[in-house]
Amino acid sequence: MKNKILEILEANKGEFISGEQIARSLDITRAAVWKNINELKNRGYQIQSVTNKGYKLEIFNDVLSKDGIAKNLSANSKISEIICLDTIDSTNNYAKKNAFSHGTLIAANEQTSGRGRFGHNFESPAGTGLYMSLVLRPKIEISKFQMITIADAVAVCLAVEDLYKNSHEKLKIKWVNDVFFRGKKISGILTEAVTNFESGEIESVVTGIGVNVKTQNFNNDIAGSIFNDDEKILFSRSELCARIADYIMDFAEDLADPKLINLYRQRSLLQSGSKITYMKDNTKFSAEVKNIDDLGGLVIINDSGGEEILRSGEVNTVRNK
Ligand code: BTN
Repeated sequence: MKNKILEILEANKGEFISGEQIARSLDITRAAVWKNINELKNRGYQIQSVTNKGYKLEIFNDVLSKDGIAKNLSANSKISEIICLDTIDSTNNYAKKNAFSHGTLIAANEQTSGRGRFGHNFESPAGTGLYMSLVLRPKIEISKFQMITIADAVAVCLAVEDLYKNSHEKLKIKWVNDVFFRGKKISGILTEAVTNFESGEIESVVTGIGVNVKTQNFNNDIAGSIFNDDEKILFSRSELCARIADYIMDFAEDLADPKLINLYRQRSLLQSGSKITYMKDNTKFSAEVKNIDDLGGLVIINDSGGEEILRSGEVNTVRNK
């Protein structure tokens, strides 16, 4: 039924058609039209509903699709396969369950059990966010794995900055991998290793990125979206997905390239002299930031004046000089 309604809307693209007209031509109730239209909206179709006028399908749509992603990849893209799902528990879970090859991209319109770091959930409603995972088989030592997360965070920043043509606004990264736009966390990253059960060796890495594109109403004050409710959507999730994926694949060719860590440092919310608190082994510590080392570690001066390097963890408060 959804497809039949979509056909009618497509035939009248850019113009209003009443719910009653649609209902009559398909011999269904107006309530059924409304329900199906909502489902189409959740898939990313931009449909305006106006009382006494009906429904209008906008020229621009934001449907996340395999074709939409493929046509936005660069000509020399290193993505080897695209899997686009309407709904899934978690794209990271899906990637981990299947032995995909290097460069496989899994994207979903919705996640029913999106996972964040430290066992948190990642809210992943249909149609309003981008949920993607990449399978990588990088030839690097485990000690350098952090650089994949660094690459992801920079990739999200660069992709959004590129797509916001004419704007010189830079996104910010809160160590290690929370991406901020206009003061709100719009993206989170979860990188996981897949170990071969028999050899015990790391077989591949699944790196998952969630971006709140136009999701509203979060259960915390930190999260936000690239676009607010009243703002015009300037690019589609398929475009964003392709661009993020291309940047990551390019960075993955040489994670030690100093260009990558420098792009990260330029966007870091934590600068030399920033006062922070962080959690380690369930205890809260305070420290002053010295810098970010070449492997993405946070070099800090602890309360006793000693130097330490944090390789993972969560920074809680940030006060810049
Ligand atoms: C965080 O901010 O704590 C990390 C959030 C990571 C969310 C992404 S969405 C795609 C992939 N699949 C998941 O279940 N999680 C990651």
